[in-house]
Amino acid sequence: MARLVGGVATSHVPSIGAAIDHGKTQEPYWKPLFDGVMAAREWIGKVRPDVVIVIYNDHASRFGLDMTPTFAIGVADEFPPHDEGYGPRPVPVCQGDPALAWHLAESLILNDEFDMTMVGEMTVDHGLTVPLSLMFGQPDQWPCRVIPLCVNVIQYPQPTAKRCLRLGRALRRAIDSYGPDIKVAVFGTGGMSHQLQGERAGLINAPYDRQWLDRMAHDPLSLAQIGHEELLREAGSEGLEIIMWLIMRGALNEAVREIHRFYHVPASNTAYGLLVLEDA
Ligand code: DHB
Ligand code: FE
Repeated sequence: MARLVGGVATSHVPSIGAAIDHGKTQEPYWKPLFDGVMAAREWIGKVRPDVVIVIYNDHASRFGLDMTPTFAIGVADEFPPHDEGYGPRPVPVCQGDPALAWHLAESLILNDEFDMTMVGEMTVDHGLTVPLSLMFGQPDQWPCRVIPLCVNVIQYPQPTAKRCLRLGRALRRAIDSYGPDIKVAVFGTGGMSHQLQGERAGLINAPYDRQWLDRMAHDPLSLAQIGHEELLREAGSEGLEIIMWLIMRGALNEAVREIHRFYHVPASNTAYGLLVLEDA
């Protein structure tokens, strides 16, 4: 049977990808951030998942206002990096896992009544590629297959935090019921506090971010009660991305062990947060 080996929560700031692509990780601005990520890389090097399900949001790259799926799952053979304006990032094309992706879709839709959108052709933007680069560096091929699970956090009305936690629980049931003997990890990406537009552009709220990090492991139910207004006020308009962490958290058991935690301000205009959790 498939086995969940753990979950990672990480911000997906595009400038982190650019720092990696342009060889700047050891420069004074970036070194503290990349030093703080090393323990998570060591962890994933040890648990070696066969497949990573990456929960992320598309930033008007593959999808736009012409079509905004609330929850979409990539069922394709492969997912090339999207050209976000400077050419596609020089990262490997993600190899998908259509058999597992279709199983997840079937279980989520038929057993748990989450009406997923199945996507047979999709490019993936920094929301997905930056977490892979953070966790795996710059290999010629990603060391695991990748299933994109894309969440609308951009266009009103976004799903609630509570719905995201529930989707995570359903995702776990789907993983647990998959026959082949493979190891699966789940990444929840986005956040932490940031606002890229308007009067409050540049907003970072470190005390608020830190209490999210505190509550992720042992009190996710209270995080799931948080409404969009609080998130917009405290974490900024794009800080709402943090609800995607709850999908990862919902996939883990109630009792978890915190393997690694790191918080760093700033990564360009954004607070950077990282958590590695395993079932206790
Ligand atoms: C930025 C973009 C993002 O999607 C994000 O999650 C954080 C920061 C940015 O453009 O700086
Ligand atoms: Fe983002």
